[in-house]
Formats: sequence, C-alpha cells, structure tokens
Amino acid sequence: MSTHLKVKVWRGAEQGDFASYAVPRRASQTVLDVVTYIQRHLDPSLSYRFSCRVGMCGSCAMTVNGKARWTCRTSVDQVAADGRLEIAPLANLPVIKDLATDMSEFFDKWARAKGQFKGRQGKLGRHQDFAQVEPASKQRLAASAGIECIGCGICYASCDVVTWRADFLGPAALNRAWTLVNDVRDSQRLERLGAVAGDTGCHVCHTQGSCTERCPKQIAPTAGIAGLKRLVAKAAFKNKL
Ligand code: SF4
Ligand code: SF4
Ligand code: FES
Repeated sequence: MSTHLKVKVWRGAEQGDFASYAVPRRASQTVLDVVTYIQRHLDPSLSYRFSCRVGMCGSCAMTVNGKARWTCRTSVDQVAADGRLEIAPLANLPVIKDLATDMSEFFDKWARAKGQFKGRQGKLGRHQDFAQVEPASKQRLAASAGIECIGCGICYASCDVVTWRADFLGPAALNRAWTLVNDVRDSQRLERLGAVAGDTGCHVCHTQGSCTERCPKQIAPTAGIAGLKRLVAKAAFKNKL
C-alpha cells in the first residue's frame, strides 16, 4: 500500500478547479482528518467547515468520491481503497469558498415548511405538569424515527429533484414537518400541512429514495414524505386546507 493518498480538493467558489495534494496515509484516518491535514500542513488558505468531529453537529458534510458523506465519520479505508480521494463541496447548495457551502436556503426551507414547534399549552406555570405523550403511540414512534436529524444537508445534496427544481422544499425540511405533524403537543398541524402541500412541497418528491439511502442517521425522509402526502390528501378531501 502506498504511504500517501492522492487527494484532489475543490478550490474556488462556483468557478474553480481541483487541486492535487499528497497526504500521508494513517491508520483509522477519516476524510475530515485528510482535509484538516491539507489545511494545517499544505495549504492554510483551504476553507472547510466542521465542529464536533463525532457525528453530532452535521457541519462537516462534503462530496467524497462523488457521494455526499459526513466526513468526520467516514474512514478513508471505506471510500478510498485505491488511495485516491476527490473531495468537493455538497451539491445543490451555493459554494462560499472551497468546501464551505452556504446553508441559508437549506434552513430557510425548514422555516417555509413550518419547522418550528409551537406548543398547545403555551408557557407552563410552575405547578403545571408537562404534556404527556404515550411512548408506544403510532404518532410518537413516527416522530421519533425522524427526530435525530443533525441538519447535515446530505439528503438535500443527494436529491435530484432539488437539482431540477431549486424551490423544492427538499427531504430534510419535509422530514422536520413530518416529525411535527406527529407531535401531539404541537398546535400548527393544519398550517404545516398547508405549507408542505403546494407545488414545491411533498407532492414533487418522486420517492426513489436517494435521501434515505444516504442519510447518515438512518432517517427515512422518503417514508415521512409519503406520510405527508397521505395527510395532505385526507385534509384536502375534508376541505380543511
Ligand atoms: S425520495 Fe424525494 S426527497 Fe428523497 S431524494 Fe428522492 S425526490 Fe428527493
Ligand atoms: S435527514 Fe439525514 S441526511 Fe438529511 S439533514 Fe437530517 S441527518 Fe442529514
Ligand atoms: S464534525 Fe460534526 S458531524 Fe462531522
């Protein structure tokens, strides 16, 4: 095995090119370790984003050998057995510089999908009890299945409908809406269904599942989007939307 990895890294913004680097190969090395090595030892002007390094914050996602991945939890051995890596920014997002993308539109879409919780009870007084949610209920299980989203944008970058239609809300925002319509404590169910019902919402999804295949947290946005389609249809049938 070669002692060095051959690494190509995107440099520039929307316009740019790949630059080549030789990075020493190490045991248990992650793709984020490789990017960090380049920035610390070969080219300090390289821009990229990370924070936790343990799969919690969602900030380190990049395109690695053609696929969107969380780089802090992706080992080099897993994706570059031949010792070659090509690292680019996430697709479907504007590039700020090098490997750092602008996530504004991604999170604006969460707001457009009414991704904020608004409780029925308002502000609790000191002597009021917390709302009780039955742990084994169908709605609780559906909400729990999508709640561990870390906002990494990997599903969004892997969605070809987002590529074709930049206004599509996308899998992460719709997954968030799905967790909230299943939260029995929330008060905005119908407004949220209205927000995801339009021609940039759940009905645009073709259900082929790239988002579900790529999500590093094993969330299935495709299933949640199918659930939203059913709820929107039911609400429309009852003339509630
Ligand atoms: S299943 Fe829907 S949301 Fe997921 S990648 Fe395909 S079109 Fe996008
Ligand atoms: S659904 Fe999965 S891939 Fe999409 S933003 Fe959340 S954690 Fe990342
Ligand atoms: S650095 Fe936080 S998820 Fe990778």
